[in-house]
Amino acid sequence: MRDARLFKGREAEIGEIADSLRNGNSLVVVYGAGRVGKTSLLQYMHDHSLKHEFASVLVEMQGLASFCETTFWSTVANKLVNEAAIRSYVGRVGIRHLHSAFKRMRDDPFKAFRRGLEKAKDLVGGRRLLIMIDDFTMLDELWPREEALRAAYQLKSLIEEHCGAAFILCVHETFYKTALSEKIATWPLLRAGIPLRLDHLDRQAAERLIRDPLGEMMTYSDEAVEEMLSLTACHPYYLQCMLYELIGHVAGERRRMVTSDDLRAVIPRVLQAGTHYFADLLQHVKGVTGVVVAALAHVSGRDNAEAAPDEIQASLQDYGFAISQSKLLRSLEHLRDTGVIERREEPRGPLYRIRIPLFGHWLLENRSLSMISSVRQER
Ligand SMILES: Nc1ncnc2c1ncn2[C@@H]1O[C@H](COP(=O)(O)OP(=O)(O)OP(=O)(O)O)[C@@H](O)[C@H]1O
Ligand SMILES: [Mg+2]
Repeated sequence: MRDARLFKGREAEIGEIADSLRNGNSLVVVYGAGRVGKTSLLQYMHDHSLKHEFASVLVEMQGLASFCETTFWSTVANKLVNEAAIRSYVGRVGIRHLHSAFKRMRDDPFKAFRRGLEKAKDLVGGRRLLIMIDDFTMLDELWPREEALRAAYQLKSLIEEHCGAAFILCVHETFYKTALSEKIATWPLLRAGIPLRLDHLDRQAAERLIRDPLGEMMTYSDEAVEEMLSLTACHPYYLQCMLYELIGHVAGERRRMVTSDDLRAVIPRVLQAGTHYFADLLQHVKGVTGVVVAALAHVSGRDNAEAAPDEIQASLQDYGFAISQSKLLRSLEHLRDTGVIERREEPRGPLYRIRIPLFGHWLLENRSLSMISSVRQER
């Protein structure tokens, strides 16, 4: 999302990142669940909030032509030279110097990059270089392990030797959490950074996302806004999905006022496209966890009430699923780790509920306990 008018909130997170970098830290690791706004945040900082203080470069790992260190360092170098030209970090003569600074990347790409960076730092002058790398998780997921290990080690050594540039790496939350416990190529590097978790938007920002998208296009009743905030738990992506369907619906009727009735009319459309919209959540609900989350949705109902493990266990039994208490608790904790459900501690024990109620509605209609149980019996 490159239109700054569409970007809402995140003031606290941006403040924290900027302060960390100002305080001399050279690496911030931003982690968050799928679609929570990591890429949007990087783009916004790159285009707006950090633009004056830092000479920033945004590298998307998804866009690399191949997964090896040569491509990686050449891409960062090219981006740096391009941004320096487009954003006038340096003058025309400086650009020529920068070009020649990053020469001969093929022989020893990292060495060439390090040498070039030294020059770039001097050329950029007043502003500190900031290299932001999105989808850094790809290094562990798709790169050959040897290449990933080497690139991570090289990046870490750049940071440790105070190369003058600062780095922000973006990783997926589940990956970051497993990286804590497993031997992952990039973990020594990630561990060295200041962590910053990106969660759903705060209420105020989420409300602005609804009411103030691009000027004063639509007016929303308070009730409709309230329902949208609650159905999406202020998750920016799910809010945008609902708004997309809503605006289409209301504009088709040549109206500008959106009410709760409109919302009710479009929810089935959002749910119909659920496998697309909820793809990110669905990858966490397979096998036993899929059955457990269906049982939680069943107990919670359309109001998304909190449920105790005993109640969930009882409904599992009603539908013929034999899942032990310990397995149930493990599944619930896994679902909580992946952000699908949330937990609240009470004196009588923990209570769970699905974090995004809209997803609960989808589960009730598309992956209900009775559906799963009948599919199982057919087999
Ligand atoms: N701060 C925000 N303000 C407004 N909309 C936002 C914001 N953050 C995210 N969005 C919306 O959510 C969508 C998904 O955000 P984004 O692609 O940045 O998430 P992500 O965390 O990078 O996802 P992924 O894990 O798939 O890489 C955006 O296209 C945008 O519509
Ligand atoms: Mg992203």
